[in-house]
Amino acid sequence: MSDKDIKTILEKEELNKADLVFLLNLREEKSQDLFDKALDIKLRNVGNTIHLRGLIEYSNLCEKNCLYCGLRKKNEKKNIYTLTDKQIDNCISEAIRLRYGSVALQCGEQSSKEFTSKITSIIKRIKELSLGKIGITLSCGEQKEEVYKEWFQAGAHRYLLRIESSNKELYYKIHPNDEKHSFKKRVACIDNLKEIGYQVGTGIMVGLPFQTLEDLAEDILFFKQKDVAMVGLGPFIPHQDTPLWKYKDQIHSDKERMLLTLKTLALVRIVMPKINMVSATANQTLDPLGREKAIMCGANVVMPNLTPTINRKDYAIYPNKACVQDTPNQCASCLERRIKSINHTILYDQWGDSPAFLEKNK
Ligand code: 5AD
Ligand code: SF4
Ligand code: FES
Repeated sequence: MSDKDIKTILEKEELNKADLVFLLNLREEKSQDLFDKALDIKLRNVGNTIHLRGLIEYSNLCEKNCLYCGLRKKNEKKNIYTLTDKQIDNCISEAIRLRYGSVALQCGEQSSKEFTSKITSIIKRIKELSLGKIGITLSCGEQKEEVYKEWFQAGAHRYLLRIESSNKELYYKIHPNDEKHSFKKRVACIDNLKEIGYQVGTGIMVGLPFQTLEDLAEDILFFKQKDVAMVGLGPFIPHQDTPLWKYKDQIHSDKERMLLTLKTLALVRIVMPKINMVSATANQTLDPLGREKAIMCGANVVMPNLTPTINRKDYAIYPNKACVQDTPNQCASCLERRIKSINHTILYDQWGDSPAFLEKNK
């Protein structure tokens, strides 16, 4: 295909699966038109502003056994922690002081009443300490409807639950095939969260073993079909204490997985111009400028880490995470500098809801 063909496809009103596969397959030297188009669409729809979500990694305890994740229950090498009330209060104070308009509370999946009530009290505490000003995104896995409702009523208004892969067969190659890892249940949770009124985000990992370009194209169409307000996607990074480690030599190289991630981000932005899309920290593990590159391909959200430095290394979903030795202050100034360097501006003290969600819920 010639450069002219690429431009013709990019000008189409709607990209179908074959178009998406074609564009995902572009070699690096042919990808710039795709990236330029995504950046142009982003600037026209959500501008050159970046929203922040201060990240609080509350606990690395998890009841599940996803085959890719370092927090899986069966990983005996993990050093378990749960932040204390004092540490949480300190994270919230830091968010206020650093003028983050929104925080994201993340943790492994737990189902006990003690856990779900604790999350409710943390949500209330964030609202109390910030005088209702800080927005709250949760990323606490699959839960019962009444739990999602309880958290929504307590003040959380966004929820991120990655589908990980929208292809059921691939889903069961990267998760145990049992009741605790049901594909059907995961999709039902996404629907349920939307019904309750959350701004819902989903996403995937790019470059998984067994994943094809057709799978990625279907994932993009899945985001559109579910009409989500946010997308979070990042490269797969093999973790040595997980079952998928054995495929590490069969997946694309770091460089190729980074490129494929950028192409996927660009296509999501083109297909869904007004959503919020995060530039994942995992991008920086594969490329020192990975987070900036993701912003230049359509991302408009970043998540500066607020987790106490002593606990960061233990939230090891994947190895070589960026920022594990840094403090909240260092992440704040580092991101300010990185974002300025690519002519984007951080919006402080704002929730930063996606125009896609706001327009639908006027
Ligand atoms: N590489 C990249 N991302 C990962 N995640 C889990 N394990 C890995 C890995 N090895 C992502 C998943 C999950 C989120 C908590 O982190 O997409 O939803
Ligand atoms: Fe637990 Fe989430 Fe990791 Fe799966 S991806 S093992 S649910 S923390
Ligand atoms: Fe954490 Fe750069 S964002 S040190």
